[in-house]
Amino acid sequence: MFNDFYQNKRVLVTGHTGFKGSWLSLWLHELGANVTGFALPPSTNPSHFNLISLDNLVGHFEGDIRDLETIKHVFDIAKPELIFHLAAQALVRDSYNDPKTTFDTNIGGTVNVLEAIRQCPSVKAVVVITSDKCYDNREWVWGYRENDPLGGHDPYSASKGAAEIVAAAYQRSYFDKNGQGPHLGLATARAGNVIGGGDWAKDRIIPDCIRALTTDQPIIIRNPQATRPWQHVLDPLAGYLLLAARLLENPDKYSGAWNFGPQTYDQTTVRELAERLITTWGSGTIQSPPAKKAPHEAHLLHLSIDKAIFDLKWQPVLDSSSAINWTVDWYKSWHHSQETRQELSVLQIRKFAELAALKGQMLS
Ligand SMILES: NC(=O)c1ccc[n+]([C@@H]2O[C@H](COP(=O)([O-])OP(=O)(O)OC[C@H]3O[C@@H](n4cnc5c(N)ncnc54)[C@H](O)[C@@H]3O)[C@@H](O)[C@H]2O)c1
Repeated sequence: MFNDFYQNKRVLVTGHTGFKGSWLSLWLHELGANVTGFALPPSTNPSHFNLISLDNLVGHFEGDIRDLETIKHVFDIAKPELIFHLAAQALVRDSYNDPKTTFDTNIGGTVNVLEAIRQCPSVKAVVVITSDKCYDNREWVWGYRENDPLGGHDPYSASKGAAEIVAAAYQRSYFDKNGQGPHLGLATARAGNVIGGGDWAKDRIIPDCIRALTTDQPIIIRNPQATRPWQHVLDPLAGYLLLAARLLENPDKYSGAWNFGPQTYDQTTVRELAERLITTWGSGTIQSPPAKKAPHEAHLLHLSIDKAIFDLKWQPVLDSSSAINWTVDWYKSWHHSQETRQELSVLQIRKFAELAALKGQMLS
């Protein structure tokens, strides 16, 4: 899918101990990249990071993204050419409980990464991972486009909108061909909710379902009618990898914001997702507690992916049914023998890359 583009490339992934970062780092390792990861220790037990023994495959640095000197030190050692910035406080509910940590991590952390890049001559391109929640959500049926207004009702969403503004300011002021330098490619990636094996975060639908199903408890869902742009974790990661490669070859053309989400016809509610997961798992029940006063959460949110389809030649590879099947396969395999899952994750990555290449999604 990527030919040998990533072979021997020095790549830094922030947030590599998390769900998406661990899959991305494993994929990059598979592609022959020389990967360095920077993050806090895994926050869940089990974690995909530990189950795939990622610390044996990549340069593993633990530290706080809020500390600029530590980040600069890691940049000095790793001398990265490409950066994927994923480290963040990624949970909406936690952002209500601790907005300051969320803002410091998601906005201040992004500033720190961009500052370190500004002072690191080896860097050629960076992808900053924000979220579909960066948009001013009007709860309308149309998909948000990259030029729609940013916003964010809750602290998490606002922090991601703000990270977008920070990235755009650095791009215009420094990294653009007319900026103060260095000239490099900077893109932001806005994906929706991802599913896949190896996520154990709290207050996320798939981990909540798996915790319930493996302990014979009913699945409790808070917002059964909420619609989200669910997709398999490997789909947006493929988009990030394509984007970084394009940024390296043509920074001026590919810098800017990019949405990655499912096709418009493939959006489901939380309840439908849980029901389909139960069918695939083979057992399980759902309970929806009576609505009580709870922090605001978006009900309807989806993304227009036209820009990525036309300009990046990216498109979703797995529809929601396949994404659920792959996710259940992963957790079932883990549930039956709780050994290292590295082989299983690698197999899913290889199978995904074959399907993507068949769909014509590859670097030319
Ligand atoms: N999971 C989703 O559905 C989803 C959807 C849209 C956007 N995103 C974004 O994708 C990125 C990755 O999400 P995820 O689901 O893997 O989250 P996650 O919570 O599993 O992982 C977060 C990562 O960030 C690191 N981190 C958090 N605070 C840090 C700090 N102060 N210093 C250093 N590292 C810190 C963690 O150690 C971890 O490695 C985040 O930026 C998130 O906002 C995720």
